[in-house]
Amino acid sequence: MSEPRKLVIGAAPEGTRDPDAAARAVREMFTSIAPRYDLLNHVLSFNVDRLWWRRTARSFAHILAQPDSRVLDLCCGTGDMTFALRKQAGNHAPQVLGADFSHAMLQRAREKSLPKISNGKSGTPHWIEADALCLPFPGQHFSLVTSAFGFRNLANYDAGLREIARVLRPGGECGILDFSEPKGAIGHLYRLYFKQVLPRVGTLLSGVRGPYAYLPNSVERFPEPQEMLDRMRRAGFREASWTPYTFGIAGLYRGKK
Ligand SMILES: C[S@@+](CC[C@H](N)C(=O)[O-])C[C@H]1O[C@@H](n2cnc3c(N)ncnc32)[C@H](O)[C@@H]1O
Repeated sequence: MSEPRKLVIGAAPEGTRDPDAAARAVREMFTSIAPRYDLLNHVLSFNVDRLWWRRTARSFAHILAQPDSRVLDLCCGTGDMTFALRKQAGNHAPQVLGADFSHAMLQRAREKSLPKISNGKSGTPHWIEADALCLPFPGQHFSLVTSAFGFRNLANYDAGLREIARVLRPGGECGILDFSEPKGAIGHLYRLYFKQVLPRVGTLLSGVRGPYAYLPNSVERFPEPQEMLDRMRRAGFREASWTPYTFGIAGLYRGKK
């Protein structure tokens, strides 16, 4: 019989003993890989990441089609999920905001915005440096809050869900896209790739030891879908659901306030 999983509070990179230290380590880790983050993302995911961001944005087309919607993409990093939301919105121009606590990651997002601005594209996203666990927004402000591959890195998952619920309007929706561990034969292949190949290639290409070993560990620690859905319900979300993407390597959690 397999051992029951321990209740995990949040991300805890190796060597960190409390949530503050974990958050600091996470921020330093992403800051250290910011210059090569996009390249590594696309190489290591064989570009499937682009499909996942687009698919997630499409799931919220009904909100993005409303000009008075306010959209927040948490842990936006270099902004690819944020740009996918913006693109899905088309000419409808709701306000789309990307937030992250790593200055270096946001800097890359801003640089990627510049060609869009100079091409005269209206409604490019806005960027803000902010901690997802303590957002500088009033309650009931947003129609949609998303997070792609960021939520798993929070030092406290329940606090993260409560903060998302706080800033959402009643009826507002949340979408959390993140990795999960597939089962069966695909699971074997996935573990081989994620634990053996990816940390080596990631370390080689980024020139930084650590972050790409942390990635598979953080996915292993992350609550299984059923537990994540229970946590979402406890944080006040209804209609909580999980849709697996690409054999369950990733998946989208959704919930309504
Ligand atoms: C794996 S990256 C994901 C970036 C982007 N969403 C994507 O899909 O490529 C995770 C991001 O989460 C950010 N992050 C982690 N914890 C955070 C927190 N507490 N508040 C804000 N950002 C956080 C990191 O700085 C990093 O940029």
